Amino acid sequence: MSQIPVDPLPDLTLNLLRDGYDFVSKRADKLNTDVFRGRLMLKPAIFVRGAAAAEMFYDGDRFTRQGAMPTSVLKLLQDQGSVQTLDGVAHRHRKAMFISFLMHEGQVDRLAAIFREEWLSACEDWERAGEISLFDAVNAVLTRAALRWTGVPVENQQLSELTAELSSMIENAGRVGLRNWVARARRQRTERFFSAKLDQIRRGELPLAETMPARIIADHRDLNGSLLDLPTATVELINVLRPIVAIGRYIVFSAMALHEHPQLAEAFRRDDDVGSRLAFAEEVRRLYPFFPVVGGIARRDFEWRGHRIAGGEWVILDIHGTTHDPRLFSDPSRFDPERIQSWRDQDHRLIPQGAGNAHLTHRCPGEMITVQLMAEAIRLLVQDMSYRVPPQDLSMPPNRIPALPKTGMRLAAIRRQR
Ligand code: HEM
Repeated sequence: MSQIPVDPLPDLTLNLLRDGYDFVSKRADKLNTDVFRGRLMLKPAIFVRGAAAAEMFYDGDRFTRQGAMPTSVLKLLQDQGSVQTLDGVAHRHRKAMFISFLMHEGQVDRLAAIFREEWLSACEDWERAGEISLFDAVNAVLTRAALRWTGVPVENQQLSELTAELSSMIENAGRVGLRNWVARARRQRTERFFSAKLDQIRRGELPLAETMPARIIADHRDLNGSLLDLPTATVELINVLRPIVAIGRYIVFSAMALHEHPQLAEAFRRDDDVGSRLAFAEEVRRLYPFFPVVGGIARRDFEWRGHRIAGGEWVILDIHGTTHDPRLFSDPSRFDPERIQSWRDQDHRLIPQGAGNAHLTHRCPGEMITVQLMAEAIRLLVQDMSYRVPPQDLSMPPNRIPALPKTGMRLAAIRRQR
């Protein structure tokens, strides 16, 4: 058995705060390894990167997410009782429920059509506004679309609050202290709201077709044959709504990539080809930063590449470092939509949303939706409207997690093309 190299620094938390997305790779490059031991927040951890590491981390049920994330992150993202916190058969059973509507072509097309309709309707307000933050504007569109698609009716006046609450869960997950607490308090309000809706669905007071996602969650039975308790069903409904709103960040990145590569935008304008828009979206997902790492706790002892990893050890997979690994992607910092890559391969290289087979692992079941909504947004940006990008600072310091340009990408002189 060979020893895992050890980082000589006593704790790496300050390196994480300073280097952000590049943190694991910088240390790994320095030690000339893809696996090393170190301490984070004073706790011992094993850091890994690369396709083989992603395979070890995702395949074979070796890791649980329980205890692998600080409470401040867990409470705002997946939360207790969610599919992400389950393991083994219980996990696969709940996961199949998500996959039944999230990786279903008909459902995804229906969402994309609603999203398009909401965008075009909001575009009239954007024309009048003169200048907008694309991030704020798209988050509102995505919130409306997600609610309509899942089947949860809301009053118009509740929409801006729900948009703010759903997006603040993502914005503040990487933060600690007051901002994180405020976002968690807000989340409780959102939970009460959706819990009441699910209760109405179950009582038949809110009739919904059986194919509507909110109804599927309300009716889902766990392995023991009982309905999910209301708090868990609520967590899972929010686990569909919140990440749909999170796609707003990738849509801003797509707009940035179109701005930086005007020849590609022009090609989309001249000749609409959905395959090229999807390839563009995939490359945005590979290149632009979202989740830096994902953590798991080993469920039992095992060997990997001659190293022993013991049950209970905390392992952190470098997502960003893997999607920027020059051994996997040549010239990795170059934006190149010609790379042949898709979430459909379910591989261990293109892992911005996890690795392996989504049915069997914790890989994200929302990739089909993510890529399809991004491709639709690209069509809307290049074909259905014209706009100007006013001078602004679009830089993203690597230690701002989750990444976003400060301006949220401002667009001006918006005109709907009819
Ligand atoms: C916006 C871009 C997105 C990113 C960057 C993202 C990222 C991720 C990542 C990295 C994981 C794996 C976590 C782990 O291994 O523990 C994950 C899991 C998950 N994602 Fe996404 N996701 C996105 C969009 C979505 C969408 C649109 C949905 C649903 C509508 C979704 C629902 C989920 C769920 C339910 C899980 C838990 C899966 C499991 O534990 O088996 N995500 N996501």
